[in-house]
Amino acid sequence: MPAPRILVTGGAGFIGSHTCVALIEAGYQPVVLDTLVNSDARSLKRVACITGVEPVLVRADVRDAAALDRAFAAHEVRAVVHLAGLKAVGESVADPLGYYDVNLAGSLALARAMDRAGVRTLVFSSSATVYGDSHPSPIAEAAPHGPVNPYGRTKSMVESMLADLSRADPRWGIACLRYFNPVGAHESGLLGELPNGPPNNLMPYISQVAAGEREYLVVHGADYDTADGTGVRDYVHVMDVAEGHVAALHRAARRPGILMANLGTGHGASVLEVVSAFERASGRRIALRIGPRRPGDAPAYWADARSAWRTLGWRARRDLDQMCADSWRWQCANPHGFDDPVPALVPGAALFQNNDRGINIHSNRGHTHV
Ligand code: NAD
Ligand code: UD1
Repeated sequence: MPAPRILVTGGAGFIGSHTCVALIEAGYQPVVLDTLVNSDARSLKRVACITGVEPVLVRADVRDAAALDRAFAAHEVRAVVHLAGLKAVGESVADPLGYYDVNLAGSLALARAMDRAGVRTLVFSSSATVYGDSHPSPIAEAAPHGPVNPYGRTKSMVESMLADLSRADPRWGIACLRYFNPVGAHESGLLGELPNGPPNNLMPYISQVAAGEREYLVVHGADYDTADGTGVRDYVHVMDVAEGHVAALHRAARRPGILMANLGTGHGASVLEVVSAFERASGRRIALRIGPRRPGDAPAYWADARSAWRTLGWRARRDLDQMCADSWRWQCANPHGFDDPVPALVPGAALFQNNDRGINIHSNRGHTHV
């Protein structure tokens, strides 16, 4: 039987490419729809190096109704994982209409095209940012929304739109995954995050300091009311997040209705704890300077991860040390991103089993399919 096809919008990006690996390993065939505005098609070649399967790429905009109709007509798509979107908070403040257009209008165009095609199983990339910064941690899914920037509001609005859709039409099965702080890279060193310019986020910044590309890390505030004074977040390995999509797909395909699930570890780590873990993983010292607080930053938050376990049977399995080790492996093997030749496979990388073609054939773990 051919592998069931899943349309993965934004599938060439950081989380999307790792999700393609997880989908292929679970026996699916991803069809990626992406403009490549913030990604590189070579990520899909790397997916092929890991899994032996290269996802089909449809280069199109998620707001383009005709292109969506063509994609649904050309590929027998069983379900959709929707990750296409813009995600930079500062940019969303400067260009709110651009963000509402891609994130909100894009999700609307996609849901309409799915309805026309009769495909009503959807996993949506939401974010912990929908909660805002006023809830005590751990934050459970029932906490009210309070996004504090346009990016967060687009995610919150898409969730509301999908909830209304599922109330109106019980044929839909929808899962909204609220990621906390996805970091790390695939264990192979073949796939990881490619920041556009100087990274805003902590882990890629530390990684570049360790590599000598940047002189030091600026710690954005050491006077918070936390154990060591620095900000606390729930960092979660990107492959755990990727596997969360497979679990959510199974659930959404089987149970009509809408489900919101936090994807986090349930534990917070401070900036200084992440720095220490990265020093252990890399064997390098991370130079740092304490700077002022970053405007808009919350002091501390982490997920209540119990509901994802109850409803999806998913929980994060990889710890902070592994997140740092995998980020470092990716950084060392690809200092110029995908411009570097495909690195030799890393011996001992957790999931790696080489065959004579030098690729991982460890696909289809025997899951049942959508
Ligand atoms: P990313 O930028 O690496 O991936 C997004 C992908 O969407 C890119 O490949 C980009 O080219 C594509 N894209 C953008 N606009 C498009 C459009 N109009 N049509 C088609 N494709 C388009 O980001 P990511 O970190 O992989 O994030 C994926 C999703 O997860 C996003 O929706 C983001 O908001 C959400 N999210 C990410 C994080 C995080 O920390 N990375 C946290 C919470 C939620
Ligand atoms: C940021 C986004 C959030 C998004 C998340 C994705 C903002 C305000 N929030 O969250 O919407 O969902 O990324 O992962 O942009 N830090 C430093 N020095 C640095 C970089 C970060 O000290 O150079 C600190 C921050 O102050 C924070 C922690 O590290 O305490 C994590 O920061 P970051 O990786 O940017 O993530 P968030 O702020 O949680």
